[in-house]
This record gives sequence, C-alpha cells and structure tokens, in this order.
Amino acid sequence: MSPESFISTEEAVHQLKQGTPVALPTETVYGLAADIYNDSALALVFSIKARPSFDPLIVHVENVEQTKPLTKEWTLLHQFLAEKFWPGPLTLIAPKSRVVSDLITSGLETVALRSPRHPQFRAVLQALGSPLAAPSANRFGKTSPTEARHVVNEFAGQVQVVDGGACEIGLESTVVFPEKIHTGFKLEILRPGAVTQEDLHAALKDFAFPVVLSVQEKQNSPGHLKHHYQPDKPLFILERFSSRHAAEKFLIQQYPEIKKWGELQLAPAAPLAARQLYSELRRLSTSGIEAIYILRDPSQNSELWIAIWDRLSKASSATLLQQAF
Ligand code: TXA
Ligand code: MG
Repeated sequence: MSPESFISTEEAVHQLKQGTPVALPTETVYGLAADIYNDSALALVFSIKARPSFDPLIVHVENVEQTKPLTKEWTLLHQFLAEKFWPGPLTLIAPKSRVVSDLITSGLETVALRSPRHPQFRAVLQALGSPLAAPSANRFGKTSPTEARHVVNEFAGQVQVVDGGACEIGLESTVVFPEKIHTGFKLEILRPGAVTQEDLHAALKDFAFPVVLSVQEKQNSPGHLKHHYQPDKPLFILERFSSRHAAEKFLIQQYPEIKKWGELQLAPAAPLAARQLYSELRRLSTSGIEAIYILRDPSQNSELWIAIWDRLSKASSATLLQQAF
C-alpha cells in the first residue's frame, strides 16, 4: 500500500476541484466522491466502480440550504426529517431540479440527498462550498468499505482516500421517499439502515400532519439488485438448523469440494455487529478460506438486525434451510 494512497482533506479538495474522484469517510461507509457539476468526474466514478449507469448516486450536502437549488419540490416532511436527522445516516429522495445531472439520477426525475456527519467529509464539503455525489467506494456489487485500507485494496491503490478511521455505523444510510398526498404525507422506506422505522415513527410524533409510513415490499428501487454487497468468497446463510454441528455437517455433505470454511461471527449487539459486518467479510475473504457461512439466529429481529440481514441476504450465494422431517 503506497503512502500516496492516503491524502489530507486539503489535498482531497484540490483533487475534487481538478475533477478527480477521491474516497472520503462517512459515518456509514466510505464514499467515492465527485463534484456534482462536473460530468466527466461523475463518469469517472461510474467507470472506476464498474457501476452500471442505471444505478443512481446519492448527493451529499453540507446543510439543508444546499438542497434548495437541487430540488423542484422540498415538502414540509423533507424539511422536518432533514432537521431531525441531519447530519446523519438518512437519505431523502425528492423531485430534482434541472441543475442535477442525469448521470447522478440515472435519468430519473428524483434525486437522493443526505448530509453526512463525519467531520472530515464535512470539512471537504465546507471547503468546496458545493455538494458531492458519492456512492459507496467499492466495485459494483461488492462489499462496501468501512476502513480507508479497504478502499485502497479494492482499487489496487488507484483511488486516493482520506483516512477517517473505521466507520461509526458500518451500514449504508436508510433511504426514504417523502411525498405529499391528499390526506397529508406518505413516507416509504426504500433501503433499511441505522435510522429505523421506529426512529422515524418516534420523530413523526412531532410532525403536524398525518404520515403513512411504509416499507417498500419488493426492493425494486434503482440499483437495488438481488445480489449486492458480495464478498470475494461465496457466503452461505444457514437457517433453522437444530445445532451448529448439524449445520456444519450439512455444509460438508452438500459442498464436498469446499475444503476450508470460515464462519462469520458477529457480536450479539446489533450496533456492534453492523460495524463489524463488512470488515469481517473482507477479512474472511482474504484469510485463505474457500467459502464463508453464517448461522442465522432467529432472535436477531430488531430493526437494525433486519437491516444487517438485508445486506447479508443480498451478499450471499445461497440460504440453506434445515430439511423438515
Ligand atoms: O450511506 C450511504 O448512503 C453511502 C455513503 C457513501 O453516503 N452511500 C451509498 O451509496 O450507499 P450507493 O450508491 O452505494 O447506494 C445508493 C442507493 C442506490 O443504489 C439507490 O438504491 C438509491 O441509493 N438511490 C439513489 N438515487 C435514488 C433515487 N432517485 N430514487 C430511489 N433510490 C435512489
Ligand atoms: Mg453501494
């Protein structure tokens, strides 16, 4: 890993002004940032990540004021949620204005916006005085990076990164779509994350209008593919086995060609498990094993665990269930 891979926030600002994408830490995962007003820098983000053009990017703003020129409609609910949860891991979808490049939105009429709270990302936003588009800094479909060295390894030193330490949350932001309807508002959760349905419910008690809160059934928002977040070694989920022994025996019988398995073990507390998830998947993938497995614990049903299992099921090659006898 060359020392030039790591840059200061000042150097990051300089590179971004030159049109070079750089990786920056956020409280969720590291993002590969580019100037929203520079289409060739945006195109580079897609090519560096090998990301298909149909998967739209999130625009990162310093504050609510910066959303105004980017949106055609910013409802009272957008304003309320931004005031409650920003800076933080909540992404708001809003109808876009003409200044937002189609490259960012994949031609959609809406734009995704969030204000990150990591101080180094904020320092860069402040110095630039302008928003940054930033998808997670990983190759398309792969595990998101939660440490600076993950980014360096992912792109073989081709991407420079500001080292902001291990990400505090470790899971991508919650994505929600607030809309005005005749009875008040509706709010759809498109991607689960650290801001949970419960958090939203609690916050909405202070909102003056009725809100219908829902979770998108089929997660078919753009870029929400069945397979995502995939580690470099196949991941298998084992569910409803009577014991660890039974699960491991089943794996060995089912996949005799795989000689070395590694177990993904996460902390029982969901916030810690979220922080461990991607770095453990990366560590296991490079530890000389051929495949990874995780045992699903049915008691892991808090909302943050649901967000973690959303990522795990998309990252997995298969879910194996105990045969019913
Ligand atoms: O925590 C995060 O959100 C991280 C950090 C870097 O901020 N970013 C991130 O970006 O996870 P990315 O590109 O890996 O995921 C963004 C997702 C897209 O895949 C898409 O599902 C959703 O945000 N999205 C973006 N624009 C959208 C839009 N206009 N409508 C619906 N969903 C949208
Ligand atoms: Mg991503």
